[in-house]
Amino acid sequence: MANIKFFSGRTTPIEMHRVRIIQKLNLLPIEERYKAIKEAGNNTFLLKNSDVFLDMLTDSGTNAMSNDQQAAMQQADDSYAGSATFYRLEKALQHVFGMEYFLPAHQGRACEHILAKFFIRKKGQIIPMNYHFTTAKAHITECGGQILEIPVKDAFDTTSTCPFKGNLDIDALKATIAKYGKDGIAFVRMEAGTNLIGGQPFSLQNLREVSAVCRANGILLVQDVSLLSDNLYFCKQREEICKNMSIHEIALAFAEASDLLYFSGRKLGCARGGGICTNSKKHYLDLRVFIPLFEGFLTYGGMSVREMEAMAVGLMETLDEDVISQGPQFIEYMTEELVKLKIPVITPPGGLGCHLNARDFLSHLKPDEYPAGSLASAMYLISGIRGMERGTLSEQRNEDGSEPIAQMELLRLALPRRVFTMSQIVYAVDRINWLYQNRHLVGGLKWIEEPPILRFFFGTLEPNSDWQQKLVAKFKEDLGDSL
Ligand SMILES: Cc1ncc(COP(=O)(O)O)c(C=O)c1O
Repeated sequence: MANIKFFSGRTTPIEMHRVRIIQKLNLLPIEERYKAIKEAGNNTFLLKNSDVFLDMLTDSGTNAMSNDQQAAMQQADDSYAGSATFYRLEKALQHVFGMEYFLPAHQGRACEHILAKFFIRKKGQIIPMNYHFTTAKAHITECGGQILEIPVKDAFDTTSTCPFKGNLDIDALKATIAKYGKDGIAFVRMEAGTNLIGGQPFSLQNLREVSAVCRANGILLVQDVSLLSDNLYFCKQREEICKNMSIHEIALAFAEASDLLYFSGRKLGCARGGGICTNSKKHYLDLRVFIPLFEGFLTYGGMSVREMEAMAVGLMETLDEDVISQGPQFIEYMTEELVKLKIPVITPPGGLGCHLNARDFLSHLKPDEYPAGSLASAMYLISGIRGMERGTLSEQRNEDGSEPIAQMELLRLALPRRVFTMSQIVYAVDRINWLYQNRHLVGGLKWIEEPPILRFFFGTLEPNSDWQQKLVAKFKEDLGDSL
């Protein structure tokens, strides 16, 4: 973002855009929020958006588009085969990543499905990675693979100063290769802006080291670049070797280190869709067969051509530091305000959103009372803000049916890019502070209905006591008739 100094000495991030289209918001009274969260089975995914004030569930498909993206949508070429829109998107990707081949898919998990299906050749093959993402893990396990998380140890340090908590432990990678051999490993996966540990980046240096080890051992390196824009920004800000590189040069260096890239266009490019990029004709031909089978014809891959046009422009805008800095700078502001209030929050601030450390926030709860899920429910109840549980509920049960207690219990408050204003962030901080002062009132959750796969999406839960009624009563006592 532009270098703007305040005479007052304050440092407040400034939007380098103005708002020209708005959506009216609705903040229900707390009694109606109580009804809504109960009906949603305490699962914020099941809330109706009309019952939500600030939707901080995700940045997936919810980022604001630019005027140029909207304008580009008008020139979409709606043909089944050979659409001019496809070639414009392909050209944008070739420019951003310097990779020749592009396979379109309807969203990120569709790419994960295809990559897992093709590259996992035998049951039990290992996929070492910095950290898993829910859908990536689900597709890998579904295809008989086994994920192995080997991030640097700082990754799980909730209050760290480590600038690159998304780095992979190189020694652990070498040890893994020595143990399982080339044939025991399907591919190595690096996730940019590592989602589930708080949107934390890896460094270009680390990626290059991972790449060198993979290449020396003939192992594929697949990069999930869904959250690339935040990772690029952090490399530029925090990494010495990137200081004199342009954002585009860093993106090209990321691509150069990898054999295959895939992305969710619901995040990268601020539209809706996804795809796989590679420079290898062999990989392209091997994977191409799955596109018409699962996604759609090769020149749309299940995406709407209007979204593809917007994505092509959005990808080019990702190379503009003024554009990609807005999210991380708002997140940094929110995180630092919470740190000043001594509220447990993941540091350093990452991308995607502000992450509350539910394990410390609700330290009186047992792990199997789902602290992050309870915090998500309580947060909606007292503020109308919808966040996402990123903890034990987001895990899959172990094969023996036992509960896999997550390494981190986070409530993610996503800040979709260019969507929220500063006063909305100030409101969120105020309500988090109230909740923290009253945290002893928050109890746990227990299952009503637990789906077997990706249970967090539509599972339902209930409070394990009358804690929600008590929280409502305290809110009314402290804040009267305030919404
Ligand atoms: C890092 C990462 N990879 C993959 C995905 C899956 O993408 P999609 O939601 O488009 O299927 C996501 C979505 O949140 C993500 O954050």
